[in-house]
Amino acid sequence: MRLIKTFFLLVCCFLMGACKMSYRPAYHHSPQQNWMNDPNGMFYDDVNHIWHLYYQHNPFATTWGNMTWAHATSTDLIHWEEHPFAITPDSLGDIFSGSAVIDKNNTAGFGENAVVAIFTYSERKGQMQAIAYSNDGGYTFTKYDGNPVLTADIKDFRDPKVFWNEVDQQWNMVLAAGQEVRFYASSNLKDWTYLSSFGTDYGCHGGVWECPDLIRFDNKDVLIVNINPGGIHGGSATQYFVGNWDGENFVIDPSQRHNTYWMDYGKDHYATVSFHNAPDNRKVVLAWMSNWQYAEVVPTKGFRSQNSIARDVELVQQGDNSYRLYVHPSPEYANLDIPAYDLSYTGHPLTQKLSGRDMVECLRLKVQLGAEPVSIMLSNSKDEYVELVCDPVTHTFSMDRTHSGLVDFHPNFAAVTSAPLPDGEEVDMVIYIDRCSMEIFLNDGYVTMTNLVFPTKPYNLLTIK
Ligand code: FRU
Repeated sequence: MRLIKTFFLLVCCFLMGACKMSYRPAYHHSPQQNWMNDPNGMFYDDVNHIWHLYYQHNPFATTWGNMTWAHATSTDLIHWEEHPFAITPDSLGDIFSGSAVIDKNNTAGFGENAVVAIFTYSERKGQMQAIAYSNDGGYTFTKYDGNPVLTADIKDFRDPKVFWNEVDQQWNMVLAAGQEVRFYASSNLKDWTYLSSFGTDYGCHGGVWECPDLIRFDNKDVLIVNINPGGIHGGSATQYFVGNWDGENFVIDPSQRHNTYWMDYGKDHYATVSFHNAPDNRKVVLAWMSNWQYAEVVPTKGFRSQNSIARDVELVQQGDNSYRLYVHPSPEYANLDIPAYDLSYTGHPLTQKLSGRDMVECLRLKVQLGAEPVSIMLSNSKDEYVELVCDPVTHTFSMDRTHSGLVDFHPNFAAVTSAPLPDGEEVDMVIYIDRCSMEIFLNDGYVTMTNLVFPTKPYNLLTIK
């Protein structure tokens, strides 16, 4: 009997050893346990210098359901502390995505500097918008007893994002309504008036529009619209439109009308929205690092999903009055204490052993381009690899994860994602790797690509040729 027990124990140890990757991110926010999707209600408390993040959470399972706003805070966007749930479901429905604002002038009457969350109640009969307020800086919320504050008779009507309109001295809301967004105005966050709709004639429409945001730059506005399915590489993705918000309508720039602009060219970048009240007028966004195609079956244990690193977005004029969003890792990550590699490829094959702690590292590569494609391989001793290719012939940058490790948990996971290769003779690449994710920034954020990978052993070799 003892022999059988010992044998059984040995088999278990062997099986566990065969795949000891925990896939628990080291410097990304992930839920301690169970399910997470969209980041919600993010705001920066500029008195206490705290970033607040709420998120779609299922307290009872590692798959979607029982949607609740869970809560985490950080002082550096790297280390996150979890707090008790902020808003939980009740008889009006589950708590879907939304935003939060600091009501500095007490427009809603909940008290000066109350944090007001604006979210969607979802139940079988439909979706409606509601509010809840916090008088302790965002830790505990009271639901407003006049809820809901906004209803409509369409099925998909959700994800309100509220911003202050300085010119009109009122609140504006953008929310997703089927395959368009709608704008509303309010003086008190409780009574909302319809202003306009945008989107039927623009962008991609292969799925439902979700989680919109309006990011206000000095003389331009960027409307973020997440779409699922119908994203650039299938399933979920984030598109954006550049134009002007005139207080009533979002007027898209003529030069931006005929293309779809993607904020990220990977498969795992969704539900991207910005922090309210970020310091120094920064535009800081977070994305949920997954894709609805397979989010519920990814092989993490005890938890599912993580958020991207925070990113500061910048709007850059490209000539001829056209604009492009540049997406930078937020400056906070300059303090990240992880192994980093700086390498230059000048046309001679290059090999570098990686000693990163279990796939926690940052690669900074300068790649000189000639006439031939350049291949950058990250691999392990189990023949699992990710291949990045800069191809000057087709002007594309691609990431192939078809042999990256565990891929067959879903038919849509094994994929090659591609993006336009920036012009020029050199490509600068910064790659943040964290256990099961790769976030790639090309030429200071001209292109970003965010993808999950699940190797069964850390990639410990980098080859460029
Ligand atoms: C986007 C989304 C939102 C919705 C939430 C529900 O991922 O579908 O539109 O509010 O997730 O969890």
